[in-house]
Amino acid sequence: GSLQMYIEPLPQMPKLYGYSIVKRWPKSVTLTIGMFEKKWKFHRDLPPTTVFAFGTCPDTATFPGPTIEALQGVPLHVTWQNHLPHSHILPWDPTIPVAKPKHGGVPAVVHLHGGVDEPQSDGSALAWFTAGYRDTGPKWTQPTYTYPNVQHPGNLWYHDHTLGLTRANILAGLIGAYVVRNPHVEVPFGLPSGDAFDRHLILADRSFAADGSLYMNNTGDNPSIHPQWQPEYFGEAITVNGKAWPFLAVQRRKYRFRIINASNARYFKLALSNGLMFYIVGSDSSYLPKPVASPTIVVSPAETFDVVIDFSKSTTSTVELTNSASYPYPNGTAAGQLNGKVMRFVISADPPTDDSRIPSSLVNYPAANEWEATVRRYITMYEYQSSTGKPTHLYINGKRFEDPVTETPRPGSTEVWEVINLTGDNHPLHLHLATSQAVRVTELVDLTTFGNCMTANNDAVKCNVTGHAVGKKLPVPEYEKTWKNVVKIEPGYVTTVVVKFRLIDTNASYPFDATAEPGYVYHCHILDHEDNAMIRPMMLVS
Ligand code: C2O
Ligand code: CU
Repeated sequence: GSLQMYIEPLPQMPKLYGYSIVKRWPKSVTLTIGMFEKKWKFHRDLPPTTVFAFGTCPDTATFPGPTIEALQGVPLHVTWQNHLPHSHILPWDPTIPVAKPKHGGVPAVVHLHGGVDEPQSDGSALAWFTAGYRDTGPKWTQPTYTYPNVQHPGNLWYHDHTLGLTRANILAGLIGAYVVRNPHVEVPFGLPSGDAFDRHLILADRSFAADGSLYMNNTGDNPSIHPQWQPEYFGEAITVNGKAWPFLAVQRRKYRFRIINASNARYFKLALSNGLMFYIVGSDSSYLPKPVASPTIVVSPAETFDVVIDFSKSTTSTVELTNSASYPYPNGTAAGQLNGKVMRFVISADPPTDDSRIPSSLVNYPAANEWEATVRRYITMYEYQSSTGKPTHLYINGKRFEDPVTETPRPGSTEVWEVINLTGDNHPLHLHLATSQAVRVTELVDLTTFGNCMTANNDAVKCNVTGHAVGKKLPVPEYEKTWKNVVKIEPGYVTTVVVKFRLIDTNASYPFDATAEPGYVYHCHILDHEDNAMIRPMMLVS
């Protein structure tokens, strides 16, 4: 039978401060954060589940890990330690490009998603390490990463990024939230604040076996080629902050929720059951120019939305947060009874206090201007299939991860990426280091002739992409019109993305050598795609 919904209170993850206040001045600190195997209770009626969790020690490690609070301009150092056991708790697949430590153990490496960080601290897929740094990947350099926090205030998260194992390591629990704050910029907004009213909702779909263990398939869709790999992991249970379908008791007032979709492949189309609006104030690591009211938000894997919900406008005493995104998105199975529910808010009758507000304006970053771009690139997403019609791998521009680097942007530059999606699914495109913004979404007409030309190993220019990109246009949702870390790429369309390789709020380039080895990556953030191998290296070159 399925688990009873809305009986687990929504937890808050513990906080770790990425600075200390000395004589009223914030000072840099070094945190030591480990990855541990431990038991985690996802639900009252589910036996404890073995997970991999981040924390400062095994007792306090959590699924998701602690929320790291950083201050803009105050560098934080984190020593990442791997205390994971000799074998993985989930199956893996040796036939995809994957970290293979000599002495066994679980390889792991941490990437700060949305971080503006030097390449040596970026968590390259090839910088993995096992317990005690016994085995290390070919691009491993150092145990302590530096996060300069030079970027504007916003929502980031940290997660594993190991070559070919990201989907399993993240499924096991290697995720956590990270916030960059700047009180001078943010306090005047008057948004709901403080631990009680400014909270994270970290969404992750998971399936459980009857004994409580995390369920992941052992057999692939195309087992003669990839014995275990499947193109998308979908779990039947929706967890929020590590609890299956939790509830949160709230007051009749405004709350700020920082929503992170940490799922492998599931998109969410979120709504509130009684018609309450989301007031979206930011997405990914950026604020919007002003709050956007919307009854729904589509959240791809790895995408984040920063929203205000005003429970004082509620006509009911409970409100469900629901999901209506099909899986895969947008052309898959419709969301059902279980994965169509996320959590419940229970509104207390007590008279609230609320001096927070939804401000009329937020931050005006420089607009996305395609004509500033010095380089236009064509990036093609394609799913390769075997003769049985089952997916074998997903490459970008027909290239493997290990093929020579082809994207070599200059630090400080603006580029346009024309991202061509020849698959049937939406893909969340994520670039490390840069921020991006979709400016146009154009249907490809005669997709079959265009697609056939492309997959015959021609390029987009040869195949006359401009001749085909003449169909209807989709609007970019208002709530996505800011500098993002994830851009959703619609199937059958070309999405024109302006990409900035610089700090957008100062127009400055990076205060570190972004051109150093091991460079960066860009990839699809459906983790099962990323692992096989919808990921490409990216080297900045001055
Ligand atoms: Cu959120 Cu390359 O990752
Ligand atoms: Cu993908």
